[in-house]
Amino acid sequence: MDHKDLQPRDSFTSKFGMIAATAGSAIGLGNIWRFPYIAGENGGGAFLVVYLLFVLGIGIPVMMSEFVIGRRTQRNPYGAFKKLAPGKPWFLIGFMGVGAAFMILIFYNTVAGWTLEYIYQSVTNAFEGKTSEELTTMFDGFREGSIRPLLWMVVFMALTAWIVLAGVQKGIEKYTKILMPILLALIIILDIRALTLPGGSEGLSFLFKPDFSKINGKTVLEALGQAFFSLSIGMGTLITYGSYIRRKENLANTALSVSLADTFVAILAGVAIFPAVFAFGIDPASEEGLVFIVLPKIFQQMPGGYIFSFMFFILLAVAALTSTISILEVVVAYFVEELKMVRKKATILAAVSISAVGIFAAASWGWASDLTLFGSNIFQLTNFATVNILLPVGGFFIVIFIGWFLKARITGDELSNSGSIKVRYLPTFMFIVKFIAPIAIALVFLYKLGIFGN
Ligand code: PFF
Repeated sequence: MDHKDLQPRDSFTSKFGMIAATAGSAIGLGNIWRFPYIAGENGGGAFLVVYLLFVLGIGIPVMMSEFVIGRRTQRNPYGAFKKLAPGKPWFLIGFMGVGAAFMILIFYNTVAGWTLEYIYQSVTNAFEGKTSEELTTMFDGFREGSIRPLLWMVVFMALTAWIVLAGVQKGIEKYTKILMPILLALIIILDIRALTLPGGSEGLSFLFKPDFSKINGKTVLEALGQAFFSLSIGMGTLITYGSYIRRKENLANTALSVSLADTFVAILAGVAIFPAVFAFGIDPASEEGLVFIVLPKIFQQMPGGYIFSFMFFILLAVAALTSTISILEVVVAYFVEELKMVRKKATILAAVSISAVGIFAAASWGWASDLTLFGSNIFQLTNFATVNILLPVGGFFIVIFIGWFLKARITGDELSNSGSIKVRYLPTFMFIVKFIAPIAIALVFLYKLGIFGN
């Protein structure tokens, strides 16, 4: 018998590799590109407080729930729900997750493509001597182009597909565990530079001094969505990764370490961006372009900034890659396990179809800029709809499933590794997934819709 037959599913082969891969999924453009501009647009410090509350109170429990479902069933999200709740419509959550994965990749690959362009711009030393306005013009000009943003997006999708084809152990684990720590070191260097810029302290107050009058329905919804997006939860990615986690690992500890690491990186990114925004007088409402304008400005102020910017954008691309592989994996695992495709065909089919739609997102500021709905282009629509709606709705049903449907004995069994580790927190966890988390998510939606408060 072939060795493969004895081991029907891949799994992460070491504890560090598993944490690195899961953290690699969580830490990505969401932390470094999305968190700063969303926090900037939604009140800075006040946003951060709400965000942290959501990570702790909702995010970590949802992540644990996804791990429980994945490891218990050894399946992709769709198959997992079919297995745990045969004949019931819960599999629709998994189905929605596959759809969300598809839609996230549509806009995520566009931004990932921007990082490739910025690697290229770093190599040609294109940032040197440019004012903030010139950097803004440079970014806008690139994004409005008709070929380059599309090309980079497709290149990035191809890279992702290539790694996904290599399989879990060889692909995902190998790359993430060396590169993520280097990225962290680079961000810390950027922080030090940003913090020592004259006038930078105003940026720190912006990020850390909450002004609660800035909170409204939109900021709360954005904080909830960002928490889900950044932690890679709400669409079954971590159900899929949970299915690769070995039986002896502690799921709660893993969820806690990954969430803390993810939050730490987002805050570090904020600490690099906001002092620089204030020191250079850059418009904090530069939206999706914010970090692509601010970071080159910081690199200009560093000895050896040329090398740093090159390294940084490479690592940012890698961080994006460790996230895109986890997202594509959701679609591929579904195609392989449910539609019985071979892995290669599944990966190529997913990558090609996502790129076909992704072209319109990448051209959202170019030739597709007229394709708008409610004043938002395709990029902005897929970005908003997946992050702020699909993921929290998915998370809502996942906690309801764990809290009200799945036998508490099964959850306890997974979290305690069949009784071999103590789970004194279990009653609290069950209370959160039964009541606190679903009610909080529902209230955020009602608040946003203006049903109470505004
Ligand atoms: N968490 C990733 C980031 O912050 O960049 C994005 C992401 C990955 C979202 C996987 C959702 C997901 F399932």
